[in-house]
Amino acid sequence: MTNLLSVKNLSVFYGASAQAVENVSFDVEPGKVTALLGANGAGKSSIMKAVAGLISAKGDIVYDGLSIGELPIRERVRRGIVYVPERREIVGELSVRENLVLGGYQVSTGERRRRMDTVLELFPEIANKVDGGAWRLSGGEQQMLAIGRGLMSGPRLLLLDEPSLGLAPLLIRRVFERLAAIRGEGDLAIVLVEQNLRMTMRLCDDLHFLRSGRIVGRRRAEELKDEAARQQAIDAYLGASETEVVTEHA
Ligand SMILES: Nc1ncnc2c1ncn2[C@@H]1O[C@H](COP(=O)(O)OP(=O)(O)OP(=O)(O)O)[C@@H](O)[C@H]1O
Ligand SMILES: [Mg+2]
Repeated sequence: MTNLLSVKNLSVFYGASAQAVENVSFDVEPGKVTALLGANGAGKSSIMKAVAGLISAKGDIVYDGLSIGELPIRERVRRGIVYVPERREIVGELSVRENLVLGGYQVSTGERRRRMDTVLELFPEIANKVDGGAWRLSGGEQQMLAIGRGLMSGPRLLLLDEPSLGLAPLLIRRVFERLAAIRGEGDLAIVLVEQNLRMTMRLCDDLHFLRSGRIVGRRRAEELKDEAARQQAIDAYLGASETEVVTEHA
């Protein structure tokens, strides 16, 4: 299948000497979920931001057959690249509905309504509160709103940065259930950054393990079907610092 996204030899520098990402290459096919896994500071968010156009990077980013490395953010959004940052950036003073409308401001009114229905169906928790202030939502509901807002523009590539960050286990499970539902729809490709290794390994098609800005290992979902293989990948690429996460059976 043709790749929707090809990241080639991507390097990200902050300032003259600090290199956060070093020669990272990976492909994303339409309809697939790709994970970037690694410890804090490994470079995961930097890769996402470079693809979204929020920070500049060296190397090549090919999306839908076009080299987009020089395109401004809005052009990338227009082509279907949506980044949902790790701190949910919803607008508290606005209602849930208004936040969703903001996400779909560039589509026609009819299309926006249709997408709003789809999003509210996907996240009934926020459907009940659609006319209330977004500041009233719980952390998990805010995360659902942030993902929902990302979906409002009808993305082809959804970049999700730690959607389960700070959520209780039950809510994490719910967010992952919704992600599984979203991935079943059409050709939407998702790049997912997650600390929740077990659930990520179950959801994703391709997994890339990062350490200090470099990809140190890759696995496909079919290679991680049994527990021993999953543990082996975690031990090999994520190290002892992940022990706590490993023992958590969510
Ligand atoms: N704006 C910035 N200015 C300077 N250095 C930065 C900046 N953003 C990130 N870095 C550095 O780049 C490296 C990679 O950061 P990045 O945010 O990409 O990591 P991450 O894998 O997303 O980590 P986390 O899991 O903690 O979110 C880190 O060493 C970080 O300190
Ligand atoms: Mg990050």
